[in-house]
Amino acid sequence: MIVLDGVTKTYNAGKSNAFTALEGISGTIEAGRMTVITGPSGSGKSTLLSLIGCMSRPTSGRVFFEGREITSLPERFLAEIRRREFGFVFQDYNLIRGLGVLENVMLPGFPLGIPRRELKTRAGTLLEMLEIRGLESRNVTLLSGGEQQRVAIARALINDPRVLIAHELPPTWTLV
Ligand SMILES: Nc1ncnc2c1ncn2[C@@H]1O[C@H](COP(=O)(O)OP(=O)(O)OP(=O)(O)O)[C@@H](O)[C@H]1O
Ligand SMILES: [Mg+2]
Repeated sequence: MIVLDGVTKTYNAGKSNAFTALEGISGTIEAGRMTVITGPSGSGKSTLLSLIGCMSRPTSGRVFFEGREITSLPERFLAEIRRREFGFVFQDYNLIRGLGVLENVMLPGFPLGIPRRELKTRAGTLLEMLEIRGLESRNVTLLSGGEQQRVAIARALINDPRVLIAHELPPTWTLV
C-alpha cells in the first residue's frame, strides 16, 4: 500500500547545519495490517512518519501510495491525499483548545465537504466506540489525558481513512 524506495531525508540540506535523519530507507507497509516502527530516540521515526503521512517530502528517493508516486506531486494534491486517506493521532494530540469535543472530532470532515449532519452521526458512533459518549460539549482543555487521546483517535477516524498513523501511542492501546 505504501512503498518507500531509497528514501533519504536531510534537514537543512546544503547548509552548514545539514543533518541526514534517514538514509536510503526502503520498505513496504502493507494494507490491512498494523505496522510498528520502533528505534532509539533520534533514529528518525517521526521523520519517517511525516514522509509516510505526506506531511513532508524526502530529499531523495520515492514514496508510493497505492502504486502512485506521491513524492513529486504538487502540494495541493498531497494535501488532498492526506485529508482523504490518512488519519493522524499526534504525539501531543493537537486538539483545538477553543473547541469542544464534538467540534474537534468533526473538524477534518469539513474540508471534504461532508454534511454537518453526517459528520455528527459519524462522530457519535466513534465516541460511542471509544467510550467517551457524553463528552460532546466538553471543552477539550478539561479532559483527562486518556480522554484527550480518545478524542484525538476519534478525530483521526472521522473521514474513515485508509491509513491511521498513531504517533507514540502507549503500548496498552490496541487498535482494531
Ligand atoms: N526540523 C529538523 N531540523 C534538523 N534536524 C532535525 C529536525 N527534525 C529532526 N531532526 C533530527 O533528525 C533526527 C531524527 O529525528 P526524529 O524526530 O525523526 O527522531 P525520533 O526517532 O522520532 O526520536 P524520538 O524517539 O526522540 O521521538 C534527530 O537527530 C533530530 O535531531
Ligand atoms: Mg519522535
